[in-house]
Amino acid sequence: MANFIPEDKIEEIKNAADIVEVVSEYVLLKKAGRNYSGLCPFHSEKTPSFTVSSEKQIFHCFGCNTGGNVFSFLMKQDGLSFPESARFLAGRYGVDLPVGEMSAKMRQQVSEREQLIKINHQAMDFFHGNLLSGRHGEKALAYLERRGISRTVVDTFKLGFAPRAWDGLFNSLGRKHVPVGMIEKAGLLVARKDNSGFYDRFRDRIIFPILNMSMQTVGFGGRVMDDSLPKYLNSPETPVYNKRRLLYGLHAAKKKCRKEGTIYVVEGYFDQISLYQRGIENAAATLGTALSSEHIHLMKGFVKRAVLIFDSDEAGIKASERSVGMFVREGIEARVVMLPKGHDPDSYVSEFGAEAFYKMAENALEVMSFLMKTAEKKHGLSVNGKLGILADLRRALASIEDMSARQLYIKELSELLGIDERTVLEKVRETKATLEKENQISARRNERLQLAAGSERSRKAKSLNKGVENRLERQVVAMMLQYPEILPEVDASCVLDHFLDSTLQFIGKLVLSHPPGTKEGVSNLMSMVDDTEKRNILASLSIKEEMWNIRDCRKIISKLIGHSPKRQEIFLKEQIRAAERDNNQDLALKLLDELQKSTVLNRKQMREVLREH
Ligand code: UTP
Ligand code: MN
Repeated sequence: MANFIPEDKIEEIKNAADIVEVVSEYVLLKKAGRNYSGLCPFHSEKTPSFTVSSEKQIFHCFGCNTGGNVFSFLMKQDGLSFPESARFLAGRYGVDLPVGEMSAKMRQQVSEREQLIKINHQAMDFFHGNLLSGRHGEKALAYLERRGISRTVVDTFKLGFAPRAWDGLFNSLGRKHVPVGMIEKAGLLVARKDNSGFYDRFRDRIIFPILNMSMQTVGFGGRVMDDSLPKYLNSPETPVYNKRRLLYGLHAAKKKCRKEGTIYVVEGYFDQISLYQRGIENAAATLGTALSSEHIHLMKGFVKRAVLIFDSDEAGIKASERSVGMFVREGIEARVVMLPKGHDPDSYVSEFGAEAFYKMAENALEVMSFLMKTAEKKHGLSVNGKLGILADLRRALASIEDMSARQLYIKELSELLGIDERTVLEKVRETKATLEKENQISARRNERLQLAAGSERSRKAKSLNKGVENRLERQVVAMMLQYPEILPEVDASCVLDHFLDSTLQFIGKLVLSHPPGTKEGVSNLMSMVDDTEKRNILASLSIKEEMWNIRDCRKIISKLIGHSPKRQEIFLKEQIRAAERDNNQDLALKLLDELQKSTVLNRKQMREVLREH
């Protein structure tokens, strides 16, 4: 783990941070027994299987098997590196971390992500400084003023100005000895066509820094101040900027979103900022990209309702059709507002004010009703028109996985069309079958790709994980984690040496060497494993509460040891089969030899094994 934060500081952060509090920022948690539960932010679900233990300071999802401690939660949720998550928590819980110049060695250890974010941060300061006090900043400030943007909001969102020069930012960062390659990687420089060097990507533009939920600056958007094109330039995707996973302004909108239970989804930078300035703080922008399932995952933790606001029919219809299934899957109610012609959220709220905006949002149609209504407007209710409506809606209907929700919409539509429900259902089924076939084809393609990538390891893991073979092993590790009193006996019995599953064995040995005695014991262990799969298993085995007693524990241990020769045999046979599948005759023979030596097999049985293969 790239970890240049001193160990005692990590310890201090761990003691200060509260996982329930941190997770609550993203997931609505309810107390359930000794733990807390909520909807998992890492996969789609409508009944909560995501569990957080305050006692153990860990989380685990019984649905998708993700788990870890407070650091791994942030790493997964926001795509942070370990040091980033530690630094974020340190900031939040008031743990002072040593700052100042890093040594060369330390610098090497800092992840690429961190470097990129630091560069972006410096660039943000440069642009912001240029707006407020640069030579040509007045022009940009005047532009923002003309558009009604207040100074407070300029500061809140750290808006900036990129000077006209070809090397303004380049020089500024160069003076700080930032490597050119990294500035380019951050998307701030563009290579000259003739390879003679680089120039600033953003020139003579108003700059909007793009922040993620951890308040890290991950990219920028730049707008011209006249009618020239392109109107906006944006950072490309970089290791820290994934457009599918970012809603502009959500970091600032989160609080109000949670309070109101509603988020307004808009398209542009100015829309978000303009709404925010008028007190409609719970808005975020897709920045012109299509709303993705990741976007919806992001907002899921703190809203019940999304109001999508569009300035044109086509954009609204397309986005609604695409997203209706995603919203239903996440259990978020989605509504659609179509603005009066010629308006976008910014111009609307500037002209008519917040009250008018709220009123319009209140009357917004639920997304499926919106689609029905627009289709009706488009086609009319003649026979042909009705067929047209049905054709327009079936894809959206088919994308809804929830049967009862789909059925309700089908009922509504069949009433509108005056067609028998079964006929509508039939059409939707046909479409669904087509969609499924398309999905299957792409899934199969993915599978083939993965197989081609030689996922021997995952195949082995699968074959070992599913069966009863490792149930006993899981039990042993679970009791080690939950009932540390048993550790001396586990150690003395050498039961871990009989494990077939190397992952479980690894975890078992780790627990033995670092007994989870204290409150944060398990969470501590998690900081020691880099591997996500191992962390997930650790979390799943420690979070499920069982009542242990010494007698049952001993039984499990002796059962596992007692089964050992048999287990060894199963294991070797499995491996032989795998080796043969891979045409690795040498390995197969070697394993056969081992099987012969190590097990209770007699010659006759041996011949059988050989015959089998
Ligand atoms: P709009 O054209 O609606 O711009 O694009 P806007 O946000 O209303 O900006 P103003 O009010 O004219 O200044 C919506 C969003 O689409 C992206 C930007 O994120 C923009 O905010 N976009 C638009 C681009 O990325 N590039 C473009 O050239 C245009
Ligand atoms: Mn606009």
